[in-house]
Amino acid sequence: MPLPLLVFRGVRAIDPARSLDAVVDVVVEQGRITRLGPNAAAELVSSEKARVIEGRGRWLVPAFVDLHAHLREPGHEYKEDIESGLAAAAAGGFAHVCVMANTNPVNDTRAITEMMVARARSIGGPSLHPIAAITKGQKGEQLTEMKDLRDAGAVGVSDDGRCVTSSAVMRRALEYASNFDIPVIQHAEDHALTEGAQMHEGAVSTRLGLRGWPRVAEDVIVARDVLLAEAARARYHVAHLSTMGAARILREAKSRGIRVTAEVTPHHLLLTDEAVLGYDTACKVNPPLREPEDVAAVRAALADGTIDAIATDHAPHSPLEKDCEFAEASPGLIGLETCFPLLLGLVRSGDLPLARLIDALTAAPARIVGLPSPTLKEEAVAELVLVDPEKTWTVTPERIRSKSKNTPFLGKEVRGSVDLTMARGEIVFEAGEGV
Ligand code: DOR
Repeated sequence: MPLPLLVFRGVRAIDPARSLDAVVDVVVEQGRITRLGPNAAAELVSSEKARVIEGRGRWLVPAFVDLHAHLREPGHEYKEDIESGLAAAAAGGFAHVCVMANTNPVNDTRAITEMMVARARSIGGPSLHPIAAITKGQKGEQLTEMKDLRDAGAVGVSDDGRCVTSSAVMRRALEYASNFDIPVIQHAEDHALTEGAQMHEGAVSTRLGLRGWPRVAEDVIVARDVLLAEAARARYHVAHLSTMGAARILREAKSRGIRVTAEVTPHHLLLTDEAVLGYDTACKVNPPLREPEDVAAVRAALADGTIDAIATDHAPHSPLEKDCEFAEASPGLIGLETCFPLLLGLVRSGDLPLARLIDALTAAPARIVGLPSPTLKEEAVAELVLVDPEKTWTVTPERIRSKSKNTPFLGKEVRGSVDLTMARGEIVFEAGEGV
């Protein structure tokens, strides 16, 4: 049940979509924002019916939209399930989570798409939006019934975890999906170039004696797909873009008006292949952590809007898949709960304007999958995050709500915390120590 009356008193409200950045009161009644403005709640704060949350230097921003998370249900619930995944999302400030199809069985049917949506609705919390498979069983051969999947709630299609390598299949996928106005989301990896690869191909992989995943394996797929998307006049989205070459190709494609978009993950913005030097399997991820010039390129591309959105690629794995030799470990790391605090570091260092960070977590991803964006304005459903930009906390297994703890940031102290999240007009997360 939505709270009858909630007052955020004297918060810094920031919503780049509305050019809003001001200290205001925000009033939420029956799950909707009803007042927003300087001192707008003056006569409400003494009301017995109101719950008043003092701003105390904190920010109120639109709730986040994640384009890319693996919640592992059905099939791998020992790593994560929809309930634990949504709890992690809420703790990270997300009101919407798009979930990938590489479940077991693969989400390539209406029945599984519907099951995911129904399961999430029965739990409550953030909204779940399936991204169904492009091809049956993610085998890269036969297309799925995209209209059925879209009608059941899928907001895009992707074989993420695998690349659609056949140009013919990708062409047909783009043409077919364009009938339903959903994006085709590519995991750009030419598997013939990455066979047996454990990490990025470069000086560090040579030093460690690990087989490398060359950048060009991403670049050739993005370049080919841009041409196919142009020919099909379809919407093409690059998942977890990680190389300077892919950023360059995307920039050029956009300048020619092709309907391409991309996302980048927090880990590709923050870490390089040097993180693998200690053979920490938490740093094994696909695409791999790249070199400093790639990190600089994806940061610049995010800052200038070439890369539209930030997506977590939250990929939970249990100790079974991670406490083993590097070559045996599964790729992936969790990211829902650390995304915003970690990326605030890029704002502080001057690498990313705050307004661009918020846009890349809210309006931009919502636009890509056709969802109404959370926004701070009167009449809007309350989907918002209360952030303490100064509060420090340490990433520990106890604090993480995800069932899996595979993050290279364990033990790290971060500055910035999500104190409260609202989704669909309800409070779905509140920090334990009281807000
Ligand atoms: O590191 C990754 N993990 N990359 C992917 O594309 C898939 C994901 C997973 O499902 O674990």
